[in-house]
Amino acid sequence: MQSYIIKGGEKIEGKTNSSGSKNSSLPILAATILNKGKTTLKNVPNIHDTKIMFDIMKLLGCNIQEEKGKIIIDSRNIDNYEIPDELMRQMRSSVILAGAILGRCKKATFSYPGGCDIGSRPIDLHLKAFKDLGIDIKEENGEIYCQADDMLDGTITLDFPSVGATENIILAATLSNKTICIKNAAMEPEIVDLQNIINKMGGNISGAGTKDIKIVGVEKLEKELEYEVMPDRIEIGTLLCAAAITKGNINIKNVRIEHILPIVYKLEEMGCEITLKEKEISLISKNRLKACNIKTMPYPGFPTDMQPIIASALGVAKGTSIVVENIFENRYKYLSELKRMGAKVAIEGRTAIIKGIKRYDSAKVEATDLRGGAALILAALNANGKTIISNVGYILRGYENIDEKLRKLGANIYLREGE
Ligand code: EPZ
Repeated sequence: MQSYIIKGGEKIEGKTNSSGSKNSSLPILAATILNKGKTTLKNVPNIHDTKIMFDIMKLLGCNIQEEKGKIIIDSRNIDNYEIPDELMRQMRSSVILAGAILGRCKKATFSYPGGCDIGSRPIDLHLKAFKDLGIDIKEENGEIYCQADDMLDGTITLDFPSVGATENIILAATLSNKTICIKNAAMEPEIVDLQNIINKMGGNISGAGTKDIKIVGVEKLEKELEYEVMPDRIEIGTLLCAAAITKGNINIKNVRIEHILPIVYKLEEMGCEITLKEKEISLISKNRLKACNIKTMPYPGFPTDMQPIIASALGVAKGTSIVVENIFENRYKYLSELKRMGAKVAIEGRTAIIKGIKRYDSAKVEATDLRGGAALILAALNANGKTIISNVGYILRGYENIDEKLRKLGANIYLREGE
């Protein structure tokens, strides 16, 4: 088990660059399975989750090489349509491979990704959408066998704008001779990134970024192309909050401003001074942060992935903040760890009431999930003394070199092997 050792009290100050988006890279990697050619990807973050994705894709027959920071995927020789259970269980997002494999091989076998640290996370919307597409689904001994002989034309209306289900429908329907419309689709920027790369491969998708997406199926995708994954809006939000909680001053380059506006508005409400340029953002935090209220919502609302991170900053803000988590039912586990650091928090169902304290105390704490782990890093940067965060494997799943980035910005943070 790896831990972070953080000595709090240093300001986060200086310039940095964002990394590529985790949540965009995973569906984009899946999409390369549809292309019977070579896809070169720039800006794929070097994190645990992308490595698991590479492992599964290699097993399916993809050849994956890394050259000068670019990932080159040759999917010409895919000959396997089964995802082994042990890999499926390692990462919830492995489920989006199902749509891509179905698109390419017309068959896919996989198992349930299982529950996870932030909620039960069922895949019923994905499976219902596959059925609506005319895909035959059989379940036996925990395995799901899908066969897509002939897809149906038509409209799929999602009960909830699920990001993963929207991506899975796009991936499954791209290679077909039918036209599929999605109503109540997720509008997240990651869906637009997925549409953009598939269209660059020769696909015909429109409407991503709105509630209505249209996929006009094409017979094949066979192109050699290069594509750059969009910046990680949640990593950017995390770095901004790290500067905010330490009364610091940060400039981040490679930012899509329109993606982070819901986060920017809240940080301004909390008293930070923010300057936006075309592809960069600066934040100065001079005074004690002010309390504010947060409600997580599908995009363009405030992102659930930022909830633990901003809540950590609100933990030392002046006044009482109310946070409502509307997307995942179990995304407050990290709060019991923050309480060890002195946070004054009460939870009632989906609502957390946070009464700001002046400063966190250092403590021995444990990361409970990816974003909850990032929330603990922020609290530790603010804390008086040395904090040890164990179980940081969760954080390494989704943040590229977060300790190194923060160290370059002035933080006293080190990764230690062992508890
Ligand atoms: C994506 O997860 C992200 N993951 C999550 O990022 C993010 O929190 C989430 O979208 C919401 O923005 C990736 O992109 C890899 P959903 P996804 O399907 O697609 C329920 C992070 O920290 N639901 O939009 O799995 C579900 O339980 C993470 O980087 C069903 O009920 O999210 C949840 O309550 C974690 N049935 C809600 O919908 C289904 O079949 C939203 O889930 C599917 C979802």
